[in-house]
Amino acid sequence: MATPIEAQEVLVGAGNPSIARINDYWLGGSHHDQVHADQAVQLELCAPHIPYLVRASRALAGRMVRYLLDQGVRQFVDLGSGIPTMSHIHEIVADTEPGSTVVYVDLDPDVAEVAREVLHAQENVTYLGLDIRQPERILLAPEFQQLIDLDRPVGLLAIETLLYFTDAEDPAKLIATYIDRLSPGSYVGLSHCSENAELRTGLNTYRRMFGDPPDVTLRDRDQLATFFSGLSLVEPGIVNVPLWNPLTEDDVGQNPELAHMYTGLGRKP
Ligand SMILES: C[S@@+](CC[C@H](N)C(=O)[O-])C[C@H]1O[C@@H](n2cnc3c(N)ncnc32)[C@H](O)[C@@H]1O
Repeated sequence: MATPIEAQEVLVGAGNPSIARINDYWLGGSHHDQVHADQAVQLELCAPHIPYLVRASRALAGRMVRYLLDQGVRQFVDLGSGIPTMSHIHEIVADTEPGSTVVYVDLDPDVAEVAREVLHAQENVTYLGLDIRQPERILLAPEFQQLIDLDRPVGLLAIETLLYFTDAEDPAKLIATYIDRLSPGSYVGLSHCSENAELRTGLNTYRRMFGDPPDVTLRDRDQLATFFSGLSLVEPGIVNVPLWNPLTEDDVGQNPELAHMYTGLGRKP
């Protein structure tokens, strides 16, 4: 892996639990300890739906990457990647198109720590601990430029990342900045939590247990649609996450509409 840029800001206060490592527990990974596991279990007692949302998001990223590989895309950028384990992008491409390149971007110091551990000595993949609100810093980073040729199609994903940005921060404009820099034939895959009682319960539980959770702005299907401006949505358009090109019955689950997360994949003409 190219030398990673260190995570430069901390999203959650010292003392707060690591959401990334709690997610790792829910994904069945090995990058958490007993404290994180206990915290995850406590949270899911109050909001039992949350681990399902986390797993559905990771499964979605995998389906999008497989779809993009089928379309001939060989370069991937993941904005707000979370911990790069448990069937994350570089593992999927290594199985089918090992020459493909992957750049993960995430500010969370726990993600940085795990990325250093699991990506070190791997070729064609790097991690940048940068703020995705600074596209130029990312696009001009030497580690990015070593792996991503913006003159060729790129698969850019932001799966459950844009909810961290308020309307005032204008995430649609942020995504448009990235889209502007991509070559024709590139794709952008987004997913976004919409208003839902389970997530609110989870956030309130988190607040009672640990203090303020990260601020999130939930957006509905129509709001997500505005983020795809200038792109052609591939089938099936914007749908509940489990219903986006499911490959197995497990992808769909029994109540896909209960995953209050919408997603779409747009192609730059
Ligand atoms: C809900 S998690 C989703 C992780 C992953 N995409 C997935 O679906 O499993 C959102 C991620 O976005 C990251 N994030 C939030 N704001 C960010 C920012 N301004 N710059 C970089 N990463 C950010 C968080 O650290 C977190 O890992």
